[in-house]
Parts: sequence; structure tokens; C-alpha cells
Amino acid sequence: MTAGHRIVLSSDHAAIQLRRAIAAHIAGHGSVAVDIGPATPESTHYPKHGEAAARLVASGDCRFGIILCGTGQGIMMSANKVKGIRCGVCADTFSARMIRQHNDANMLSIGARVVGEGLALDIVDAFLTTQFEGGRHATRVDMIEALER
Ligand code: RB5
Repeated sequence: MTAGHRIVLSSDHAAIQLRRAIAAHIAGHGSVAVDIGPATPESTHYPKHGEAAARLVASGDCRFGIILCGTGQGIMMSANKVKGIRCGVCADTFSARMIRQHNDANMLSIGARVVGEGLALDIVDAFLTTQFEGGRHATRVDMIEALER
């Protein structure tokens, strides 16, 4: 795992319980879970929670971000609007490994209405334990970054 790294977590109302389970899991592996909420289950708007987490990653305050909503899609779209963010939605461990290995993703999004807790924790582990491969993939990530300029 990424012991010692600060990992920001946020979600909308659809994913509070799973977000807390992931925060506890990460902390149990020696990383610092920076859980920015929300704390209560009232209906809220995923774009602001995706943006808040993305800003902490883009600024370097947190090494990775894990964000959740019902499908994982809306909050992922929001986070990806922040410059420097590469976030993918994952519902399987293969994709979670590959977005690190090939895309150097710095954020992971999960749909709390899509995957159960056991699989979600495995997805988080796959994401946090996989290194970026570099090489030809770095050229492609550079091309993604060029789209932001
Ligand atoms: C909220 O009902 C739901 O739309 C949201 O959690 C998410 O799935 C959006 O992408």
C-alpha cells in the first residue's frame, strides 16, 4: 500500500457508508485518510465534492484521491475538470491497476450503488499498490496534459 501518503476521500450522499469503510481500510494500512465528508446523509451535489477532493490532489496536498457517488460517474466527471487530475471510474480490479499502470491516474472513483464493500476495498488496494509504468505511457499522459493547455 502507499504507507504514509495522504489520500483524500469525498462523496455525495449516496456513498457515505462506503466512503467511511474505505477511509478506515486505508488508515489500517498506514496511509493518512483525509476524509472531507460530507458527514451527514442529506441530499447534496456531487460536483462540489468531486472538485474539493480534486483541488487537494492537484495542489499536492494529497497524493491520491478516492471519490464516490451512486455510479461514480458524475463525481469523476467533475474531478476531471480540475487541471492535473486523471480520474477513472472502476468497478473491477483490473481497471484499477491499469489506470495507475498506463494512465498514471491520481484519483479513483467508485460507484457505491454499483459495487459492494468487499470488491470496493479490493479495487482501492489494486489502485494504491500499482505503480505507473512510464515509457510509452508517459508520452500518452503528456498528451493528455497538453489538452489542458
Ligand atoms: C444521486 O442520486 C446520484 O445521481 C449520484 O450519486 C451519482 O450517481 C451521479 O453520477
